[in-house]
Amino acid sequence: MNVCIVGTGYVGLVSAACFAEMGNNIYCVDVNPKVVETLESGKVHIYEPGLEDLVKRNTEQGRLNFTTDLGEGLDNAEVVFITVGTPQREDGSCDLKYVDAVAAEIGRKMTSPKIVVDKSTVPVGTADRVRGIIAGELEKRGESIYFDVVSNPEFLKEGDALNDFMKPDRVIVGTGDENSATTIKTLYAPFARSREKLIVMGVRSAEMTKYAANCMLATKISFINEVANICERVGADVSEVRVGIGSDSRIGYSFIYPGVGYGGSCFPKDVKALIDTAAEYGYDARLIRSVDEVNNTQKLVLAEKIKAYFEPQGGVAGKTLALWGIAFKANTDDIREASAVQVIKALTSLGMKVRAFDPVANTRAREEIGHIENLEIMDSQYDVLDGADALAVVTDWNQFRNPDFERIKRALAAPLVFDGRNLYLPERMGKAGFAYFSIGRTP
Ligand code: NAD
Ligand code: UGA
Repeated sequence: MNVCIVGTGYVGLVSAACFAEMGNNIYCVDVNPKVVETLESGKVHIYEPGLEDLVKRNTEQGRLNFTTDLGEGLDNAEVVFITVGTPQREDGSCDLKYVDAVAAEIGRKMTSPKIVVDKSTVPVGTADRVRGIIAGELEKRGESIYFDVVSNPEFLKEGDALNDFMKPDRVIVGTGDENSATTIKTLYAPFARSREKLIVMGVRSAEMTKYAANCMLATKISFINEVANICERVGADVSEVRVGIGSDSRIGYSFIYPGVGYGGSCFPKDVKALIDTAAEYGYDARLIRSVDEVNNTQKLVLAEKIKAYFEPQGGVAGKTLALWGIAFKANTDDIREASAVQVIKALTSLGMKVRAFDPVANTRAREEIGHIENLEIMDSQYDVLDGADALAVVTDWNQFRNPDFERIKRALAAPLVFDGRNLYLPERMGKAGFAYFSIGRTP
């Protein structure tokens, strides 16, 4: 099948590479010439395990093409995916300016029938909005060309995106049109071998499914974080409680790891966008608002623990913190809405010096937060420790799980560790001579 994918970020590029791998011809369009240049040279501008090899192979075999020109991408395409960003506006609502711009350009440039697919995460009603924009542009041109707009939200997660796309739990196809449904199902058939995985539903239900899924997962995380905060106060251990409740198959083990709150480019903005959509329709989404509120405070829990510890010594001003992990989670270079950034801002603004290290996100961090006063981003996991007053672990990278504790102790000015991901066992840390603070476990 000939497919055009507009927006080659995490979702667009992964989708493009995976569709190409199954033998489809893909045209990737991005407004950013630097992105297109990088991809054409066989390199990938984002960190996603396995993606570069897949992109390279399919580009070399001619199934993956890149351009900044949407007209060129649209030429032979039967299906056009919109995979541009849908950032959060200041008021929490979803900003559709990139989706609108792509829809208008499709309307201006299409010369043959198209199935336009919204894959970006967009509020309920956006498919109708996109339909209106394309129809408006066609009308201006005095053209009448058939098109349909389908909702096909994406559920991949960064760091495991290829696996998620290649073996999805489900593929949601939102359309009332049988032909569109058949085309999209054909495209996805190699990924969803079991028929039950291809779920066709109404467009608005498909759009809502995406927000409901992300909000449910965010709810699990805020729930366990709240339980962790209570555990700390009552002398229980959230790690034990997590196993205790996860063993109930109705609850399950996944997404109930307590920590520094959820970050990333999706949960925070999608939770806020659903609250906003509900409000727009006159409904106060109280539970989802609480999920957001709990998360906002959870993101600062580690900073609060550090501040409380140093309070009797005159506060954090003038002290130095070694910080491991800037990315919003392991296996990504994405620092959007990362809890580490909040921890860094909260402590550096009080005069604490922070020396941070991330295995992959350092370059991005230098670009985006490198200007912060009192922050130094370093390229060695162990060099950040030299003479620091404490170590804070904020991201759950594997290489932080079993570090050289003797070396840490030797390097730090005092054996003090704040662990925002519960990577270590309190007993072991105690025996190794560390003062150790984690989440939801009494020190
Ligand atoms: P991203 O920021 O990584 O990439 C978006 C790309 O679109 C950029 O390269 C940008 O240059 C390009 N773009 C913007 N305007 C354009 C235009 N007019 N024409 C062509 N290209 C244009 O975004 P992302 O993380 O891939 O997210 C895309 C959408 O998918 C969002 O709605 C997001 O919520 C959703 N989503 C993301 C993930 C994820 O893990 N990142 C997972 C599921 C869904
Ligand atoms: C999330 C969803 O998992 C994807 O299904 C969805 O497609 C995507 O959002 C999206 O819509 O963009 P992602 O943000 O890449 O994917 O990462 P997750 O693995 O879900 O983690 C999100 C945040 O929650 C991270 O900060 C992570 O550290 C945190 N988290 C996750 C916890 O604190 N505890 C957990 O148990 C799980």
